[in-house]
Amino acid sequence: MKKVMVLLCALMMLIGAAGCGSTSTNSTGKTTDKKELVVGTEPSFAPFEFPDKQSGELTGFDIELIRALGKRAGYEKVTIKGMGFDALIPALDTGNIDVAIAGMSITDARKQKVNFTDPYYESGLMTIVRKDNDSIKGLDDLKGKTIAVQLGTTGAEAAGKIQGATVKTFDTSDTACLELKNGGADAVISDLPVLQYFLKQGGNAYAKPVGEPKKGDLYGIATARKNKGLCDKLNKALQDMKKDGEYQKLYDKWFQ
Ligand code: ARG
Repeated sequence: MKKVMVLLCALMMLIGAAGCGSTSTNSTGKTTDKKELVVGTEPSFAPFEFPDKQSGELTGFDIELIRALGKRAGYEKVTIKGMGFDALIPALDTGNIDVAIAGMSITDARKQKVNFTDPYYESGLMTIVRKDNDSIKGLDDLKGKTIAVQLGTTGAEAAGKIQGATVKTFDTSDTACLELKNGGADAVISDLPVLQYFLKQGGNAYAKPVGEPKKGDLYGIATARKNKGLCDKLNKALQDMKKDGEYQKLYDKWFQ
């Protein structure tokens, strides 16, 4: 009888240890609640998240940043899941992902739904038009025009405020730019660093920026409201990365 009890106990301990969410100590001795950090992103947003041309693997500033933060926060594995931008916050809610990093701007509306880490990048919005367009010189000239944007983004919101404009929404910023190229839209409103990168990578063959960029947009990493501990851990890791220069190294790699 005693033997059976011992066996049963051992079995229960095994099941317990394998259970999700159990506390464990990783190789660096840090204690984590979970060994794996599941990250959601919308991966066509270069230079923040995009597939590397050669390997097909996801790369970019956000991807390298969250991998480094995950490691510093004690996770053994960082898994990246690609999904639509507008699916990220719902995925945090359902627990399908632990964090979302996707060049996501910290907005009041989003703050009602998720916790953001401290800002990790200062961005802004920019407008591009076709190179041969001389009539649109800034935001004021967009009234009544057709504007291509990415679904659920701050660019889409800005376009929606322009009087009489027709807003065409696309799943990615890249496809919005394609619509401009094909003549289906007069302009694209999207994030400044993303459009700058797009122009530099060959987009300037048919597109050009107009007007003054709208600055002062801050990117944060989103976590579920119920998981405040994770947000704190990421903030601590981000502060440490800034202090010891790893953040700056990463910034220079992608934005110099
Ligand atoms: N910064 C903008 C926003 O938060 C656009 C982000 C789009 N990100 C992406 N990975 N597609 O709405």
